[in-house]
Amino acid sequence: MELLGAELAPVVAFMLIGEIAVFAVFVCAWVLARLHKGRYHHYVMLAAFLTDELVFKPLMTLRALEVYGPYPWPGTNIAPHLWLDIGVTALGVATVVAAFRFRVKKKGNMFMPPKGRIHRLLGYLFISLWAATLVLGIRIFAGFYL
Ligand code: HEM
Repeated sequence: MELLGAELAPVVAFMLIGEIAVFAVFVCAWVLARLHKGRYHHYVMLAAFLTDELVFKPLMTLRALEVYGPYPWPGTNIAPHLWLDIGVTALGVATVVAAFRFRVKKKGNMFMPPKGRIHRLLGYLFISLWAATLVLGIRIFAGFYL
């Protein structure tokens, strides 16, 4: 199929569009947190994080192994992208653990007390580094296809 003037396998377009959509959902979840809608924030964040980890990241790893051969894929920037992603995934898990550790439920909503500021800190770091991983991925995509 054709996307941005390049001929791509449909799975590549699915991964590219899917990762951009995941980022858009992260931003929506962040807006929900800023609006103090903690309960919706947590559902949306968890859904986006799990979809990314269980669908898009395994697809990308399989695609790299299938098309570019075994790790570390010499002549490509895929290995640093993978390592950054593994670090970001660990950060995401730490963010979620801190959230469940410190959240407070009150009248059907969810709040983060001051001692839960570690969740905010890890969350901002996670979103920033996740976005950096996406940019690196788009650069790899552009290098191969554009
Ligand atoms: C990878 C997953 C997650 C990320 C990246 C993330 C990120 C964030 C960020 C950046 C904030 C601060 C927003 C601000 O400036 O006020 C925040 C707030 C919050 N998060 Fe998360 N979060 C995640 C998952 C969760 C989960 C699983 C829960 C619940 C178990 C949760 C509960 C909350 C609550 C209650 C707040 C405070 C909302 C308020 O200010 O009323 N988060 N989160």
